Amino acid sequence: MSRSFNRSTELYARAVTKMPAGVSSPVRAFRHVGGTPVYMQKGEGAFVTDEDGNRYVDFCLAWGPLILGHAHPAVVEAVTKAAKDGLAFGTVHRHEVEMSELVLRGFSWADRVRLVVSGTEAVQTALRLARATTNRRVILKFSGCYHGHVDSMLVKAGSGLVTQGLADSAGVFATGDTLVAPLGDMAALDAAFKEHGDAIAAIIVEPLPGNNGLLIQERAWLQALRERTQKHGALLIFDEVISGFRFGFHGYGKVVGVQPDLTTLGKIVGGGLPVAAVVGGAAIIDRLAPLGPVYQAGTMAANPVALAAGIATLKELESGRPYAALEKLGEAFDRAKAAVKDRVQFARVGSVFWPYLDTSEPVPTNAEKISQKAIGAFRERYKRWLDAGHYLPPSAYEVGFLSSAHSVEQVEAMVRAVGG
Ligand SMILES: Cc1ncc(COP(=O)(O)O)c(C=O)c1O
Repeated sequence: MSRSFNRSTELYARAVTKMPAGVSSPVRAFRHVGGTPVYMQKGEGAFVTDEDGNRYVDFCLAWGPLILGHAHPAVVEAVTKAAKDGLAFGTVHRHEVEMSELVLRGFSWADRVRLVVSGTEAVQTALRLARATTNRRVILKFSGCYHGHVDSMLVKAGSGLVTQGLADSAGVFATGDTLVAPLGDMAALDAAFKEHGDAIAAIIVEPLPGNNGLLIQERAWLQALRERTQKHGALLIFDEVISGFRFGFHGYGKVVGVQPDLTTLGKIVGGGLPVAAVVGGAAIIDRLAPLGPVYQAGTMAANPVALAAGIATLKELESGRPYAALEKLGEAFDRAKAAVKDRVQFARVGSVFWPYLDTSEPVPTNAEKISQKAIGAFRERYKRWLDAGHYLPPSAYEVGFLSSAHSVEQVEAMVRAVGG
């Protein structure tokens, strides 16, 4: 029986008269897949229930933070307790001490952490630190990598070799110091340093790019980023807002054995509430005010209630139990995927996956190679998956997530449905 979406439709009709496209963040509007966005009302473990009472197994998971699933009891308890003690102080608080210690246990190569509110802010702070440290202006990024809505990062690449970044958003004029190159392209990397070597302050990259599909990179290329930046006196920034703490109690840098100068974190470190961070060596991070001349501040930075969610999530992760559960789900994923391989391919690293609905070529590893056939098929079939109770991110360019609250059966059923 087809589901009813009356209440969501009613709410959305009210929303579009007050908010642009009825939303607070673009992709929530379902414009890519069509239809009315679904208003979620409740989340519990792997499940979400919408305002019409329809239940789904959630593979979007708030776009990554909910590695333990929805409303994990330890997280909810910690948040409730913290809220009862007061929502905000704007003073130092014991939670930020605990949080810094936890984060730095996961990133043992780093000495310092600055806690901020969003991934965008973490990136902005990392870029400012890189420019202040090197006294240079240019930032090299890669097409297909998203680094939040910092002005200078809102650029798309031209095809071919390195291009000067063109703004991808109206109202942005700050991209003149941004260079964009294709992912995984050693020649483009060398061309960028040949031409702009003494102006490049930093390379910023998602070591596991997950914002334009899941574009898995070779370790050798990530290693080359490290070598080139070192050679030319630039910094290497790993944007691990998605991948930090996702594959173990550490970053993806550790998985591939490449150590950056700065890492940005978000999503999981807040456990579902707004917390993000920049970590790095003391020589760089201690340039921040009030110790140094690089200004960064925030009324809501290190909010005690938000940190309670992050601390509870990280403590659970540090036990290793959720990663062991995710490992089992990954194995089930691969078994299920083998049965549908004639109809769909999946890129998967641990608990992050990307359905690619074109089997004519291997899953691409850079943005330029994504086929329109894959995108079209995703858009066409999305509603069917939704009706069958699988809530995937409503865009063919977004990755899906598994949580430790999922069951093997739920994962298998989703893989079968996407391949169906
Ligand atoms: C890799 C990466 N960096 C930065 C951001 C921006 O984070 P936020 O949405 O918290 O500002 C995102 C958001 O999805 C991201 O995936």
